[in-house]
Amino acid sequence: MITVYVPRDSAATSVGADEVTVALEREAALTGRSVRLVRTGTRGMLWLEPLVEVDTGTGRVRYGPVCADEVAELVAAGLFEGAPHPRCVGPVDELPWMRDQQRICLARVGVIDPLDPVAYERTGGLVGLRRALAMPPEQVIAEVTESGLRGRGGAGFPAGIKWKTVADAAGPDGLKFVCCNADEGDSGTFADRIVMEGDPFSLLEGMTIAAHAVGASEGYIYLRSEYPDAAAVLSAAIGVARDCGWLGRDILDSGSDFDIHLRIGGGAYICGEETSMLESLEGKRGMVRAKPPIPAITGLFGRPTAVNNVLTLVSVPAILADGGKAYAELGVGRSRGTQVFQLAGNIARGGVFETAFGITLSELVSGYGGGTHSGRPLRAVQVGGPLGAYIPAERMDLPTDYEAFAASDFMLGHGGIVAFDDTVDMASMARFAMEFCAEESCGKCTPCRIGSVRGVETIDRIVGGEDPEGNLALLSDLCDVMTEGSLCAMGGLTPNPVRSAMLHFPEDFTARRQTTSAAQGTTEKESR
Ligand SMILES: Cc1cc2nc3c(=O)[nH]c(=O)nc-3n(C[C@H](O)[C@H](O)[C@H](O)COP(=O)(O)O)c2cc1C
Ligand code: SF4
Repeated sequence: MITVYVPRDSAATSVGADEVTVALEREAALTGRSVRLVRTGTRGMLWLEPLVEVDTGTGRVRYGPVCADEVAELVAAGLFEGAPHPRCVGPVDELPWMRDQQRICLARVGVIDPLDPVAYERTGGLVGLRRALAMPPEQVIAEVTESGLRGRGGAGFPAGIKWKTVADAAGPDGLKFVCCNADEGDSGTFADRIVMEGDPFSLLEGMTIAAHAVGASEGYIYLRSEYPDAAAVLSAAIGVARDCGWLGRDILDSGSDFDIHLRIGGGAYICGEETSMLESLEGKRGMVRAKPPIPAITGLFGRPTAVNNVLTLVSVPAILADGGKAYAELGVGRSRGTQVFQLAGNIARGGVFETAFGITLSELVSGYGGGTHSGRPLRAVQVGGPLGAYIPAERMDLPTDYEAFAASDFMLGHGGIVAFDDTVDMASMARFAMEFCAEESCGKCTPCRIGSVRGVETIDRIVGGEDPEGNLALLSDLCDVMTEGSLCAMGGLTPNPVRSAMLHFPEDFTARRQTTSAAQGTTEKESR
């Protein structure tokens, strides 16, 4: 029996993985081979999708990108035997992209069928949960605290401290919740989706451990509406977990009850902000709540609630399985463990790459990412989503470390890295930041709601040559007002991309723009 693995997640199916699977089944039947096809998640090397892996008995040999039309030729050339071919990229674990990673969140993604509970347990699943259930909750919190795990949703808040706050909060009636923030609205981020589609049980396990730690009996996953494939996988995984006794009453014969419900988001970026997410979960419009009270004390339906990002929760089973100390040995400074970096934008090799904190931007973007897709010089990267700063190419030596980033007024956020080559116009990127804020603002406070609109107008005046000096000063003042006066980080951080564009690329707001416009004008005249 030959086993062939083909990803079933949305990254792979969007480029034809389903058609490739059908073609493989057809060729197996035509050639009389006994082939077992296993659908997995993506390995995260998106430029190689659809990626077909063949188990040769001595390891998996991979072919990619494979298109359905060429499957017959590949099979004739010996794909089912792992034979060499121009599409063959060799054994899975020997490619530098795979070899150099430290995959904790991604350990099983691309390896097993995401909905196979036997394969999940065979690859270390539930070890962390069983260990956690055998401990008193405070010891689970102590392990997570010792691991140094910080929230991966953007703010980097220590998970252990948050959980202790929820555990210590009495609430009105003892009812508590765990909410997984799977809204993943940041530009250039897709790691949550890849994990949810490729290893959903690890998220359910992480949430169940969190529930035991904080004393919650109900959990919610708030998933963005744009992820229908993840919704289907998660719903199926919740059903399988209930059938296996991993969720519901008396989980794993521990005497504890915990169940998880999937809720589909309202389709707005601001619904990823935790208080807005809670409003949306309660069936209301996604509007930001003033803090305090923090959700850990007064959260969903007024009860103490642990809100955590997908990657935060998915890191937890390994922490409980191997101990907080082992996890804390990875990383630098106060950035412990691993981060799933997402390489996107104008990049030769895009995808997800999980490694310990401390790797430099250059190693990620120019090294594993292979530089820009266009082949032109890199000019900037935006790290941390639409509210993250634009980091100039000269700063690519920066280590990925929350504190090192903060010291330079940058932020790591959710670990999304979007690359731009030297054709990018940073004034229009600054304008886009304000425009995005105007579009996505919940409208509750003036600096964000009105400031972002005035920001767009001010940048238009600058690039239009209308009193550039005066309007640049006005834009700078406006950024100060938004930073200081906004109720939440949406309005408060929008100045990040704007200020970084002004600071690191001033020529795009004045001289370079005028030279470029003049040159374009000349070319236009010549071509007439
Ligand atoms: C505008 C805005 C959007 C956000 N979107 C997300 C999101 O999509 N996913 C997420 O986990 N956190 C998002 N956050 C951060 C959450 O408010 C919150 O800090 C996080 O979910 C807490 O989980 P963590 O401690 O595990 O990171 C967003 C914050 C803001 C201000
Ligand atoms: S900063 Fe923007 S998104 Fe946040 S509360 Fe104010 S208006 Fe709403």
